[in-house]
Amino acid sequence: MSSTLAPTAAKLALLGGTPVGKITYPKFPTFTDRAIARTVEMLRTGKLFGVGRKHVPEIGEAEEVISRYHGGRHVLATSSGHAALQSALAGLEICGGDEVITTPYTWGASISCILHQNAIPVFVDVERATGLIDPESIEAAITPRTKAILAVHIFGQPANLKRLRAIADKHKLMLIEDGSQAHGAEIDGLRVGTVGDAAGFSCMGGKILATTESGYMVTPHENVYWKGAMIGQHMGRATDGGMPEELKPYSDSLVYTYRVAPFNAVLLTEQFAKLDAELVERRRHADLLRQHLAGGKYLRLPDYAAGVKPSYHLISFTLDSATAGITRDTFAAALKAEGFNAIGYVPSPISDWPRLHWQNYQGPRVSWLSTLAAAKVDYRNLPLPNTRWRVDHALESGFDMVAPNEPMIERMAEIILKVEANIDALRDHERKVGPAAPAVRG
Ligand SMILES: Cc1ncc(COP(=O)(O)O)c(C=O)c1O
Repeated sequence: MSSTLAPTAAKLALLGGTPVGKITYPKFPTFTDRAIARTVEMLRTGKLFGVGRKHVPEIGEAEEVISRYHGGRHVLATSSGHAALQSALAGLEICGGDEVITTPYTWGASISCILHQNAIPVFVDVERATGLIDPESIEAAITPRTKAILAVHIFGQPANLKRLRAIADKHKLMLIEDGSQAHGAEIDGLRVGTVGDAAGFSCMGGKILATTESGYMVTPHENVYWKGAMIGQHMGRATDGGMPEELKPYSDSLVYTYRVAPFNAVLLTEQFAKLDAELVERRRHADLLRQHLAGGKYLRLPDYAAGVKPSYHLISFTLDSATAGITRDTFAAALKAEGFNAIGYVPSPISDWPRLHWQNYQGPRVSWLSTLAAAKVDYRNLPLPNTRWRVDHALESGFDMVAPNEPMIERMAEIILKVEANIDALRDHERKVGPAAPAVRG
């Protein structure tokens, strides 16, 4: 199906013309009446704390539902995505100086879960078109200290799980998935979270599977479940039964408090019930946008191979600024003036962030600097050419495309096509006044 939208060459709002109109997003997240009633009931009865499946059947119910969605794997519901990821690393016994090969193009918690285990992130480059970890960059980064690969399914796009699994197996490494932005995404029939030795998911209120703040860890290995659980709750409080005898002497209250809150367990169950239907809508909207932009020239959506089914947490574009002759930031300023606010989600490669540079660090002390210093890790000025390219060329927008929202998808396309149709005027403008301020997340 081709688009019915015709690009308008009307004067750009940035240059004094009339804006197309603001992109408004539907209310997000939404909860069913049943979810709300169940949550209120918990508040009414004071059933608000407790950690184990036995004490809090709602936790068991949520873990059962999530387990079914992930092919029967073991599931630990947690207080956040970070807690889920750190539980995954702890469950896999990744700590003290172990190296984890990962991506610098993600949300910080994909990396802080490694740092909080006193392990060492080793950053490799990503694919330009998607920002996903580039499997071909991994093998050169493997050392005798490498324990795992941590892949992030960024923006709802599934990383190349088959290839990553093959590399991990070849080198006897563990594979960890960060599915925080990609609940339900699939690649070649594999659902994210079902290929790694462990996976962590965030269910904070902006995510595809939104609660208030929570998350979950998924693993095929029962002992990883128990070792992950041990760092986040005192098993003496949980009394679920089934904990392996050899772990029991090490279960105590030297823990983080990482278990899911009971009312978020209810929300997990209820939100999962509508996940697949919402994914259908997200994909339909993304397809619609793609159709409308088929005649576009500069702002691109990634072309996914057959077999890739993203879940579209965010819609991610890249600007072909070489052909457009304009910076991403001026293009974004023109979109914003028309009513569409899109920004680069990752402001810089994480390896550039000052809190990782022990060599010249001036800020408040953080626990991982001594680990990085002892290992003499130097993250300053890593080349990472594709990551840097994306940081300068990507624009992300809108995680709440789930409700029937076709008029806004059309408006988004209309705005993009209007800016493209005026590219000469915009280029002249940039030449006169210089590029706009960086359109990046703070
Ligand atoms: C890719 C990624 N990993 C990890 C996290 C951490 O999740 P949370 O905020 O629930 O701790 C997030 C979200 O915030 C994320 O987007």
